[in-house]
Amino acid sequence: MYARVAAATTAALLGAGALTLPSATAHAADRPSAQTSASHKRPLVVAHRGASAYAPENTFAAIDKAADMGFRWVENDVQRTKDGELVIMHDDTLKRTTDVEERYPDRAPWKVADFTAKEIATLDAGSWFGPEYAGQRVPTLKQYMNRVSRNHQSLVFEFKKPELYPGIEAQGLAVLRKTGWLDRHHVKNKLVIQSFSADSVKTVHKLRPDIKTGFLGTPAVADLPEYAKFSDQINSTHTSISGEYVAAIHALKGPHRKRLEIFTWTVNNATAAQRVAGFGVDGIITNTPDVVRKAVSGRVSG
Ligand code: G3P
Ligand code: CA
Repeated sequence: MYARVAAATTAALLGAGALTLPSATAHAADRPSAQTSASHKRPLVVAHRGASAYAPENTFAAIDKAADMGFRWVENDVQRTKDGELVIMHDDTLKRTTDVEERYPDRAPWKVADFTAKEIATLDAGSWFGPEYAGQRVPTLKQYMNRVSRNHQSLVFEFKKPELYPGIEAQGLAVLRKTGWLDRHHVKNKLVIQSFSADSVKTVHKLRPDIKTGFLGTPAVADLPEYAKFSDQINSTHTSISGEYVAAIHALKGPHRKRLEIFTWTVNNATAAQRVAGFGVDGIITNTPDVVRKAVSGRVSG
């Protein structure tokens, strides 16, 4: 079934025609100035799984909270149910962030891929975080994209464990297209697609070369040129990077002939935020966007 979906959606996507090259990831107000030296520029702040320190991750509450706090950029994780629906969930089981164990005690280990969309839609994805979030749901990708649109937000979209879900890239792109996220404006300004799987990033790049992509990891400097053939960003954990590493990334051009970028994660305190900002990173992905915003507020934005 998924192979058929993937083949059909691949054809539709490749037929999309008007492929436009993305400019910068950020809106003008968030964009670091090209003239600003790396040591002074203000990185883009991205709310990781939404404002996930303050509301249950990957729910409407988390992205709404980010919007309320003034953050336009959010990050998510996309996986697939037993019956082929794409949903927003970080872990490949439902155990940590829903009441699935209580509701379905006999279905350990509660994998996302073992539950139908209808079953997942009834789970409580908020009570684990706090009683005030009881009744938050696991959004489908379609619901999530509509909510991000409603909030006028932008998205770092992650294909999570794509090796578990053959064809998920074409399927995800089809949902993005249907929800209006693959038009010129969105592709140019409001979307990055990333994964820990280089194969998945390559697939996205092949299907829609206009989309800005990110590889999650810290490849050896010698290998960066290979990644730069299909990835516009190298998005590394903040503990793995240095000023030299960021400079090595910035010395290269990505597939769109623009400077390779780095969004680093998951930076949740001021000291770490100031450290990576000093390296000149382009973006900081954080559970505490308010803390990071304050820490980098003295820097210059474009
Ligand atoms: O966006 C970077 C980050 O989300 C990657 O790690 O495990 O939180 O998805 P993880
Ligand atoms: Ca993620």
